[in-house]
Amino acid sequence: MKNSILIRPYRPADSDATIEIFLRAIREVSSKDYSPEQIDAWAQVEDAAKWAERRISRPGWIAEIDGKSVGFSDLTPDGCLDMMFVHPAFQGLGVAGRLLTRVEEEAEALGIDRIYTHASLTAQPFFERKGFRILTRQTVERRGQRFDNFVMEKFYSGRS
Ligand SMILES: CC(C)(COP(=O)(O)OP(=O)(O)OC[C@H]1O[C@@H](n2cnc3c(N)ncnc32)[C@H](O)[C@@H]1OP(=O)(O)O)[C@@H](O)C(=O)NCCC(=O)NCCS
Repeated sequence: MKNSILIRPYRPADSDATIEIFLRAIREVSSKDYSPEQIDAWAQVEDAAKWAERRISRPGWIAEIDGKSVGFSDLTPDGCLDMMFVHPAFQGLGVAGRLLTRVEEEAEALGIDRIYTHASLTAQPFFERKGFRILTRQTVERRGQRFDNFVMEKFYSGRS
């Protein structure tokens, strides 16, 4: 399966597909770790234009399987991996791992020696498996709901 995953740069036309993956991943996967009230507050994209703007404001990547978009990720210039979402029907196939490898290649090309992320309770084991360490557990507020997540980081030594 890993070989049939294609990672390619994000394009503006991918915006709707990323919204669908985002909403479904939260509703169908993260719902095991957060309450229904939290999921309702998190799984919202109120302004699709703003979402699209945000996606093109930093390097991003789409994972495809058989021509279907099944995951996406990104990296801001300061080393923040903001998004890592995989379609519920394509979990556990190595999609996020392949996306992270691409993010790490980009970080290397940009001379970024630390990647950090605010990992959901759902994603924390994935990032830990990939060498990220927990800096802190924190509670954030979103649309009136409080969410626990982890600030996690990974250092890449030997880069300029
Ligand atoms: C977290 C998430 C992105 C992982 O995506 P995925 O494509 O299923 O992950 P992969 O198949 O690439 O897993 C890669 C490795 O992490 C491990 N892993 C992934 N999820 C894990 C979990 N919940 N517990 C333990 N290990 C896990 C896998 O076993 C695999 O290990 P390996 O490299 O030894 O084979 C996905 O579950 C998701 O979309 N979650 C919901 C949305 C979310 O919370 N996103 C993060 C927002 S901060």
